[in-house]
Amino acid sequence: MGKSSAKRWKKKKNVEAETNEKGVRKQYEEIVKENADFETYYKLQKICPENEWEDMMKHLRESLPTTFRITGSRTEGRALLHVLQKHLIKDAVLAGKSDPEADIGAFPLPWYPQNLGWQINLTRKDIRRNEAYFRLHNFLISETETGNISRQEAVSMIPPLALQVEPHHRVLDLCAAPGSKTAQLIEMIHGEDEGIKTDGFVVANDLDNKRCYMLVHQGKRLLSPAFIVTNHDASRYPDVVKTDENGVLKKFKFDRVLCDVPCSGDGTIRKNVDVWKKWSTSNGLYLHQVQYQVLKRGLELLEVGGKLVYSTCSLNPIEDEGVLHRMLKDAEGSVELLDIDLPHLKHSKGMSHWIPCTRDMVQYSKFEDVPEKWQTTVRPTMFPPTPEEAPKYHLDKCVRVLPHKQDTGGFFIALLTKTRLLPWENTEVEVKSERDPPPAAKRDPRGPPKKIRRIGGFKEDPYVFMSEDNPIWPQLRDFYGLDTSLDCTNFLRRSEDGKIKNIYITTKAVRDFVRSNEKDVKIINVGVKALVRVDKKWTPCDFRLSQEGLPSLSPFIKDRRVQLPKEDLKAVLLNDDDKDKPPLLELLTEETRKLVEPIERGSLVLDIDLQVEDDGPLCKLQLVGWKGTNSLRAYIQRNDRVHYLRLCGADVSKYEKNKFKEREEAEAAELKKGDAEAEGNDNSMDVEGNGNGAASPEESSDVIEPKPIKVTSS
Ligand SMILES: C[S@@+](CC[C@H](N)C(=O)[O-])C[C@H]1O[C@@H](n2cnc3c(N)ncnc32)[C@H](O)[C@@H]1O
Repeated sequence: MGKSSAKRWKKKKNVEAETNEKGVRKQYEEIVKENADFETYYKLQKICPENEWEDMMKHLRESLPTTFRITGSRTEGRALLHVLQKHLIKDAVLAGKSDPEADIGAFPLPWYPQNLGWQINLTRKDIRRNEAYFRLHNFLISETETGNISRQEAVSMIPPLALQVEPHHRVLDLCAAPGSKTAQLIEMIHGEDEGIKTDGFVVANDLDNKRCYMLVHQGKRLLSPAFIVTNHDASRYPDVVKTDENGVLKKFKFDRVLCDVPCSGDGTIRKNVDVWKKWSTSNGLYLHQVQYQVLKRGLELLEVGGKLVYSTCSLNPIEDEGVLHRMLKDAEGSVELLDIDLPHLKHSKGMSHWIPCTRDMVQYSKFEDVPEKWQTTVRPTMFPPTPEEAPKYHLDKCVRVLPHKQDTGGFFIALLTKTRLLPWENTEVEVKSERDPPPAAKRDPRGPPKKIRRIGGFKEDPYVFMSEDNPIWPQLRDFYGLDTSLDCTNFLRRSEDGKIKNIYITTKAVRDFVRSNEKDVKIINVGVKALVRVDKKWTPCDFRLSQEGLPSLSPFIKDRRVQLPKEDLKAVLLNDDDKDKPPLLELLTEETRKLVEPIERGSLVLDIDLQVEDDGPLCKLQLVGWKGTNSLRAYIQRNDRVHYLRLCGADVSKYEKNKFKEREEAEAAELKKGDAEAEGNDNSMDVEGNGNGAASPEESSDVIEPKPIKVTSS
C-alpha cells in the first residue's frame, strides 16, 4: 500500500471511529470548513466591515436553518397558513416552553409578503424528543409532498420579489431549473386568479434538457395554464416574434426577465460544504463571460420600460458588480440600476471597487499590469470603474445579502430597467423573415404541423390545437355544459395522429406565442392536463376531468357540478381507503344525496365553500369527482386527500406513522418487561399480545413515512 493511500485509509478509519462513538452515521469524511484563499480574497474585497468578519465566518461554518414558502392559490395558501400557525406552530412553541433545551426558532421571514415565507430550526433530535415537534415535522413533510409547501433557501426567494411581477406580465426566466424562483413567478402571474383569461405568462428556460423536466413539474404542481418551458442556451436565446392584429410578424419582447445565472455558488457554502474544499478565484473569472452574455441577451429580449433582475448565489464582485459594470458601460445609458424595495431585508450595498486576482492569488489593480499568460483569464472588462466614473453607474443600488445579517445564505441581486433600445439593437420592430404567414384568428390555415420537428438534435412532438370540427369538441361541450365563451383552440394535444389520450388547456396568449414561435424555439412543454381519456368505465363522455387543469376549465363548466358541505367532503375523503370500494352515496347527507343521485355516471366537479374553523379564512375548493352508480369519489391523490382533510379540521393521524408514539409505547413495554423480570414474573407474551408498540398491518400500509427535513449537527 502506497503512503498516500494508507494515509487516506487511516483518515477514513478515524472518521468511522468517531461515527461509531457518536452513534451517527456519516458517509463522507468530515469537511474542514476552512479555505485560506477564500478568506484572503474576501478580506481584500472588503466584502463586509472588519468588525463583522468573525461573525460572518462563524455563520458561514454553521448549517443553514430550514426555510419554506406556502405556495399555491392565495385562498388555499391562507387556509394552510391558518392551520400551521394556529395549531402546529402554537403547539410546538408551547412544547418549547416546557423544554428549555429546544428552540425551534419558528418565525415568518420579516421581508416576505403576507407571512407566507418561514424559517424553522427543527433538528432530528427535536423531532425525537417531543410529539408537538414531530407533528409539525410530519405536516411539513406531507404538505411538501403535495406541493402546498416549498422548501427554498430564504435568499433564493428574493429575486422574484424584486422583479415586481404583475398578472398581465410576460415573464422570461432564462436560467430557471430546478424552478423554485419560477414557481414564485407563476404564483405572481396567477395572483388575480383569472384562469385562462390571463394575458400574462411565464417562459422558463434552461440549457440542460433533463433539468427542463423539473420545470415541467413546477408548472403541473402549480396547475398553471400560462406556463411554457423552453430549452436553449440563454446567451443565444432565439429571437421571438408575435403576430399583430394585421397579421404582421413583429419582435416579441418580455415585460420582465429573470437572469439567475450559473455562478460559483460560494453563497451556498453553508449548504454545499464542498465549496470549502473547491473554492478558488478561477471559478468566478471563468464564469464572468457567460454571465455577461446571459445578461446581455436578457436585456435584448426585454421590452423598453421593462425590468430585469440579475442574481447570483455568489459573493464575488467579478460575478456580480463586475458583470453589471461591464453591461452598463456597453449599454451607454440605455440600461439603469433601480433601488430594490424590500424594507425588512438586511443587506449591504453594492460595491464600486474590487480587485481582480488570479488563481495564484496575485492581485491586479489595472489590466496593463496583468502578465500576458493571465490575460485570457483576467480580462479588461473585469476591472472596476475609476473613482471618477463610478458615481454614474450607481452600483451601490445592488443588494448583497451576507449570511450573518439574518442567518441566511449569501446572495447578490440587482434590478435593472431598460430606458431605450440597446445601442446595437435594430430599431425596426417588424420582422423580415421567411417564416410562414401568421395563423388566422381561430383555425390555423396551415393545419397541424406535419412533422416532428428536430431542433438541436432533439425530437419534439408538435403542439396541435383543437379545431371546432374535431368530433371530440361537441362531446365535451354537451356533456359538461361548457360555456360558449370557451374557445376550443385553448385545448391542445401533443400528437398529430392516433387516439388522443390527454387534452391540455392553455391561454390565448400562450397559444399565440407557441403558434408564432414553435419553429425556432425549442418548446418542451405548454399548458396543463385538463381531460384524460377513460376507456373502460361506462360513461357517455370519453374524457374525465383532471385536477391539474380544473382551475382553468372550471369557470366554463355549467353542468355536472355538486356543492358539497364540509361534512360530506370529509365523508368522501375519509371513506376512500380501498381502491375497489368507493365511498357510497348513503354516507352523504340527504340533501347532497338528492343532488348527486340524478347525475349521470362519470366525471364531475365538487364545489366546496370551506370555512377553515370558525375564525379561519373561507376557501373555495374545486375537486374533480367521479359519480358511480351508488358512489361518489374525489379523484385526487392520496397526499392531497390528507391535505384537504387537514383543511377540514379532520383527524389525519391514521395517515401518519407516529414514530414518536411508537417509540414511547415500545419504551413503556420495555419498562414493563423489565419490571416484570425484576419481579420474576415474565409476562412478555402478554405485552406482545396487547399489541403495544406495533402498528397494525392496516396502519402500516397507510402511512406517510416521515423523512427528516433538516439534518443538523446537534
Ligand atoms: C443558479 S441555477 C438556477 C436556479 C433557478 N433559477 C432556481 O431558482 O431554481 C443555474 C441554472 O442555469 C442553467 N444554465 C447554465 N448555463 C446556462 C445557459 N448558458 N443557458 C441557460 N441555462 C443555463 C443550469 O442548468 C442551472 O439549472
